[in-house]
Formats: sequence, C-alpha cells, structure tokens
Amino acid sequence: MIRFVELSKSFGSRTILNKISFEVRTGEILFILGTSGTGKSVLLKNLVGLLRPDSGQIWVDDQEISRYSEEQYLSIRRQIGMVFQQPALFDSLTVFENVAFGLRRLEKLLPDELSKRVIESLQLVHLHQLENRYPNELSYGQQKRVSIARTLALKPKVLLFDEPTTGLDPVTTTTVNELIFELSQKLKTTSIVVSHDMKCAIDIAHRIIVLDKGHIVDQGTPDELKKSEQELVKEFLREVLQTSQSAPTKEKLP
Ligand SMILES: Nc1ncnc2c1ncn2[C@@H]1O[C@H](COP(=O)(O)OP(=O)(O)OP(=O)(O)O)[C@@H](O)[C@H]1O
Ligand SMILES: [Mg+2]
Repeated sequence: MIRFVELSKSFGSRTILNKISFEVRTGEILFILGTSGTGKSVLLKNLVGLLRPDSGQIWVDDQEISRYSEEQYLSIRRQIGMVFQQPALFDSLTVFENVAFGLRRLEKLLPDELSKRVIESLQLVHLHQLENRYPNELSYGQQKRVSIARTLALKPKVLLFDEPTTGLDPVTTTTVNELIFELSQKLKTTSIVVSHDMKCAIDIAHRIIVLDKGHIVDQGTPDELKKSEQELVKEFLREVLQTSQSAPTKEKLP
C-alpha cells in the first residue's frame, strides 16, 4: 500500500535518511524503531508532505506522491491520518468540539451526521461519556485518546502514530498500545507506529523496522527480530527483558 524507494533526506551537510527502502502492507501494524534523533519523525513528515525528500520516491497505492504540489497533498492527508506526539487539544473547547474541529473544516456534514461521526470516534477510544468535558479535566492518557479520536473522525485509511506512548506511565502505555491494536483490527486500517519502545513493538507489531544512522539495520516480524544478530536490536531487546515480566501474546494478522 505504501512504498518508500531509496528515500534520502539531509539537513545541510547532515544526512538523516540515506536511501531508505521499505513497504507497508495493507492492514498491518508496522513499527519503526530507532534511538532519539535517528530521523523517525522526519520519515513520517515526508510521508504526509510536511517535509520533502531530496531524492527517492514515496508510493501510496499506485501514485508517486513525493513531488506532489501542496494542493495535491490535501487528498493524501485525508487518507493518511497522523497522531502527533503531543495531544495539542484546544483547552477552550470540549472533547466533542475538539473532535469535531477538523470535520467541520474539511467536510460539509449535517449537524446530525457530524454528531454521529464524533460520537462514533469517541466510542472507538472508549471516551464517549466524556464528550462534554474540557481537556484540563482529563488525564494525559485520556487527552491522548481524544487526539486519536480527532484523527479517526476523518476516517483515514492509514494511521500514523508518532511516539504514542512516550512519556506515559506503564498502565497508560498498555492502554494506548491495546487501543492501537484494537483499532487496527476493528477498522482494518494500516498503521505505522514510530517508537523507541521495543516492548510495545513486540506486543502489537506485525513487522518491525529498526533505523540507525540513516539506514535500516534490521527488519522482520517480532519473532524474527528476537533472533537478530544486530547489536542495536539486541540492546533494545535487553531493555525489554529488564523492564517487563511476560508480554501478553495476541493473535496477529497474517
Ligand atoms: N526541519 C529540520 N531542520 C533541520 N534539522 C532537522 C529538522 N527536522 C529534524 N531535524 C534533525 O533531524 C534529526 C532527526 O530528527 P527526528 O525528529 O526525525 O528524530 P526522531 O528519530 O524522531 O527522534 P525522537 O525519538 O527524539 O523523536 C535530528 O538531528 C533533528 O535535529
Ligand atoms: Mg520524533
């Protein structure tokens, strides 16, 4: 569904992504792991057109989008919903209005349809009873879920999560992780999750890509990566063994 072909991006003399190639299959959850500053966010921003690659291609279905004009990108952004690292909700708007905000701007819906779409999105993140609350009355984890609902309201085919669990406590991390898994199963969306949390990746990813210094150092299913000979991957795995007891195993998509 999405294919990066020899994508390169530099800032000045610093090469951040160096001929990166990989594909994301329809319906899968792909994790992109890497230490801080390896270019994970830069990669996602290239996909949604917030940054442009220096060379290489990005294919979405059968279209090469990396040279699209700003206007052409609008339709891509409707298909690819990004959940940013910070929830960034409007403090002065209720949960309902926060979720409705983008919809009002982008779609001409009748009030009943709008309301239905907002409530459905909040139901998907299990927050429909809190629609009249304000963001400062919610926990950080709940705010994060509202920000996911806001993205879901636009019905994207692809969901991008930039570090969805960074800075969350272990319990909330598990909740958000399970939510990403549940959404992928229920909505059949394709998900790309950028993270440095190997435990989350092992729990819910169908495939994992490990980035380091501009290159993909390894990729495969969680089981394949557990046998990796790459030092960075082993290091990530050691952290998982140190911090977790036993990861819940879940049924994976093919
Ligand atoms: N617009 C920009 N201009 C110049 N340099 C940038 C820009 N965006 C990112 N960089 C640099 O590119 C590198 C990769 O940044 P990026 O944000 O993608 O890292 P990351 O892997 O997402 O890290 P983290 O896990 O901390 O979020 C960093 O060194 C960053 O300073
Ligand atoms: Mg980042």
